Amino acid sequence: MSSTSEQPVLVAAATGEPEVNPYLMGVYAPVGEEIDASDLEVIGKIPADLNGVYLRNGPNPRFEPEGRYHWFDGDGMIHAVHLENGKARYRNRWVRTKAFEAESEAGKALWKGVMESPKGNPFGNTHGLNVKDSANTDLIFHRGKVLSTWYMCGTPYSVDPLSLETLGAEDFLGTLVGDMMAHPKVDERTGEMFWFDYGPRPPYLRYGVISADGKVASTTEIELPGPRLPHDMAITENYAVLMDLPLVQDMEAARNGRHKLLFDRSLPSRFGVLPRYGHGSQIRWFEASPCYIYHVVNSWEQGEEIVLDVCRVQRPQPREDARTPLAKMLSYLRLDASLHRYRFNLRTGQCLENQLDDDNTEFPSVDSRVVGGRNRFSYAVHISPDSTLKFDGLVRYDDRAGAKTEYRFGPGRWGSEAPFAPRDGAAADSDDGYLVTFVQDEREGRSELDVFDAADLAAGPVARVLLPQRVPLGFHATWVRADQLEPSRNR
Ligand SMILES: [Fe+2]
Repeated sequence: MSSTSEQPVLVAAATGEPEVNPYLMGVYAPVGEEIDASDLEVIGKIPADLNGVYLRNGPNPRFEPEGRYHWFDGDGMIHAVHLENGKARYRNRWVRTKAFEAESEAGKALWKGVMESPKGNPFGNTHGLNVKDSANTDLIFHRGKVLSTWYMCGTPYSVDPLSLETLGAEDFLGTLVGDMMAHPKVDERTGEMFWFDYGPRPPYLRYGVISADGKVASTTEIELPGPRLPHDMAITENYAVLMDLPLVQDMEAARNGRHKLLFDRSLPSRFGVLPRYGHGSQIRWFEASPCYIYHVVNSWEQGEEIVLDVCRVQRPQPREDARTPLAKMLSYLRLDASLHRYRFNLRTGQCLENQLDDDNTEFPSVDSRVVGGRNRFSYAVHISPDSTLKFDGLVRYDDRAGAKTEYRFGPGRWGSEAPFAPRDGAAADSDDGYLVTFVQDEREGRSELDVFDAADLAAGPVARVLLPQRVPLGFHATWVRADQLEPSRNR
């Protein structure tokens, strides 16, 4: 596949519905090369006290897709910029998943995507979901390595955070049974990692803990009324918070061999609070109004309550008038979420909820050292009202002051997830640091890494690192501090 093709790519003629698929062109067009570049040109100045690496995952099909292409089908590719002593190095690599290796061997795509029948696909995940596990969704730093994860629940792949070499399928010293969702939570104070696995057959949900020595230390089954599609979870100092949300498989459609999601407004949203090492039978459920939630901002304990901040989607149902496969995909990819707070009272069992902001913000982050503890500051991207899942700005929330500050990238400029990157030596959750993100300029067809002073977003980027190739729009990103990188350097 050409890395720079701006030609419209038609979906499979076999469907009789040729349509222009926007996710293979323009800002989404995959790149074909793996590049290393150093001493990159900078507009402004890279702060000397910002040392670490920004890594972002996303779909980047290596071969011409078989049949209709969905944006989520592409092979995981990591783009990273390493900032050290005021200098920047760029590198991008595909994640060498088992499926990527099999297709590379064959020299062509062997899997069809989620908009096609999975019949004939070589293999899928451990739940019998016969879809290619592309590890294209998030990047989680744990024990000196980055885990590349997949939104459908798959095999986490270990990747070196600097060389981006795929170190292999991560089985946690042989202790992991089953799959892992895309967004495990790491408690940097204890070194533990918390995760879940879900599937279409009982047990519908399993929750577990990876210990600081890298082994599965605990797993337990969580009873649910049926199969669900959980995307994220939360931790506090003593608890894990899991979700049972009323976006479910349409069973009637499933009986007819079709994949359709149904938002069942007759069901509540349920939040399950469980001691970190608890048994599934100890879970306490709290009910709230129906919604869907992709991403958790953070959670913490406050007196007898657990507070949970999320980006809440009020109306997750795709548009009814979407008829063609592409229209349906675009409809599902609309995301209208807002900052929302839940309070679960462990003594009374009461659940309170309130919306904190009505703006469309998503892909939230806090200082990674404060995950599971009370945060004052959080950060997110702003979703453009005009486009499907394009990020047109950055947002910073100050919970104590009840204040919000914002920055917009400008016309035709689109960001990526922008994690908080603390200044060297800064205290946790002090807002003393930077937001780092890729920005792609649609008109110029080029990308840069922009660095913002977190406490002064409105001033615009303090540094714009010009990248040697365009970085297609993608999914999740993370920041790994220089002090976290030391062990991986010595390996
Ligand atoms: Fe996600």
